Amino acid sequence: MLRIAVLVSGGGTNLQAIINAKGDGRITDAEIVRVISNKKDAYALERAKENGIESVVVAREDYDSRQDFEKALIGSVDGAKPDLVVLAGFLVVLPEELTRKYEYRIINIHPSLIPSFCGKGYYGLKVHEEALKRGVKITGATVHFVDSGCDTGPIILQKAVEVCEGDTPEVLQKRVMEQAEWIIMPKAINLIAHDKVRVENGRVYIN
Ligand code: GRF
Repeated sequence: MLRIAVLVSGGGTNLQAIINAKGDGRITDAEIVRVISNKKDAYALERAKENGIESVVVAREDYDSRQDFEKALIGSVDGAKPDLVVLAGFLVVLPEELTRKYEYRIINIHPSLIPSFCGKGYYGLKVHEEALKRGVKITGATVHFVDSGCDTGPIILQKAVEVCEGDTPEVLQKRVMEQAEWIIMPKAINLIAHDKVRVENGRVYIN
């Protein structure tokens, strides 16, 4: 059984997608053992509660220094004894100690086709604003392993989504979530739970 810790900051629709996929059998042999939020009012915490999943808040404002906050975050992750850490809209840059300790055991969902519209400053609606500004006709989402860089780790799965005439960033964000994020995140987790994902020389191979 793959033990999963899910890290969130907001609405938690990707967390919900994982819960749903477990419910309908698209994810097997895996369980969410803890949800960790850096925001006290994240709706994701409600979702955890409703589904009987343990949740923990580790908020920056509760600690005197960044260092203490990072220590608490690492402690909370370690405490869950996870085989896999899933970043589902977690808006905190991970301490390097964590990315090193959990090499190829942390995954993130990014709302574009990496390497487009990613890296520092590209998160949330900004990603979709930039895609629309550039006039791309196809965008999408990417699940990747997290390394010490920003959106630079090995790519596990990607799914393309069409950009439509008249899209606003909000409309495009919703389509990317529905047609890509909520599909490939559970899929990647299930592949990992069944030991189908292998990293070699910085590239992912799916067995
Ligand atoms: C998603 O767009 C995800 O790609 C990004 O943050 C957003 C999180 O949404 N990393 P939610 O909290 O899962 O609803």
